[in-house]
Amino acid sequence: MKSLGILTGGGDAPGLNAVIRAVVKTALRVYSMEVFGIEDGFQGLLEPSKLFRMSTADVRGLLPRGGTILGTKNKGDFVLKREAGRVIRPEAVFEKAIKTLHEQGIDCLIAIGGEGTQTIACEFHRLGVPIVGVPKTIDNDLQGTQTFGFGTAVDIATEAIDRLHTTAESHDRVIVLEVMGRHTGWIALHAGVAGGADVILIPELPFSMDKVTRQIIERERQGRRFSIVVVAEGAFEKGGSPRYNSSGQLSGIGYFVAKQIEASTGKDTRLVVLGHLQRGGSPNSYDRILATALGCEAVHMVARGEFGKIVAYDGVRLSAVDMYEATVGLKLVPVDGFLVKTARNLGISFASDDD
Ligand code: F6P
Repeated sequence: MKSLGILTGGGDAPGLNAVIRAVVKTALRVYSMEVFGIEDGFQGLLEPSKLFRMSTADVRGLLPRGGTILGTKNKGDFVLKREAGRVIRPEAVFEKAIKTLHEQGIDCLIAIGGEGTQTIACEFHRLGVPIVGVPKTIDNDLQGTQTFGFGTAVDIATEAIDRLHTTAESHDRVIVLEVMGRHTGWIALHAGVAGGADVILIPELPFSMDKVTRQIIERERQGRRFSIVVVAEGAFEKGGSPRYNSSGQLSGIGYFVAKQIEASTGKDTRLVVLGHLQRGGSPNSYDRILATALGCEAVHMVARGEFGKIVAYDGVRLSAVDMYEATVGLKLVPVDGFLVKTARNLGISFASDDD
């Protein structure tokens, strides 16, 4: 491969720029490949003006910088439909993108993104485009790998819990913190344990409002007159389903939980929705290292011709995981895993059937 194109897709995550830097440096220094930056995710492949040749000067100072210098899009025109288990892709859009690659002399792609981006990458691979994926999501829900951005999001949520503790305790209040986590509770669980929350609500363990209330009243009985409840945005009551706003975005579970707590305990209750603060800004040191290592390895995979795969890190070593396998289903919090057990040992309630 003489030239590669690099793009970032889906929601941003701290560490994206560190990956871009690592890819550009490795491709230029180690393999003397040409690198093309593609702006706005796959969408940029539909407009040749969104492609530009990258040099090391383009990636100077990028390691600590949040966001992505390439810009990103959530699917755009590449949105896939599923009918009877089959993926239906917009053929004309894919054809146009592939034509751009040929015209610009781009031999292969590195796509940095989460499940949505890697699912589109699979379609490019099916159509014969040599492509390598770099996993990204603050939600930590991609199969077979850790993802950069997650650690930073957990740090931010943990700091929020620390800060909420002192104000909640001063006012004898309940504070509900809603964190990101569309289908999985990784951020809520990790930050909840790291910050010493009293209740953690995650999508993997549907909760009972009665049990949430009971935990707060029990703390009150023990003289602990404040409580911190961490809720993942995708959490829901047993027998219920996740809450969405009219634009189809997850929204409202924190508000619901806070209102119910206030009504049933009579305690002054406040809600904080942490939102995109978890995604913005500089990556922590762990995410910088992970992003850099994944970026370098993605270029080595290109050089070895390992396409249709994502570069993965299991906590010990880097490997190449089949892109199709990585996008079948999400990596859920194991409900009988060590961290859920650790939390329960400490008296943290998930307000679920087993609490
Ligand atoms: O998947 C990552 C994530 O940050 C989720 O936690 C969140 O629900 C979603 O993206 C929000 O995305 P956006 O606001 O960009 O649509």
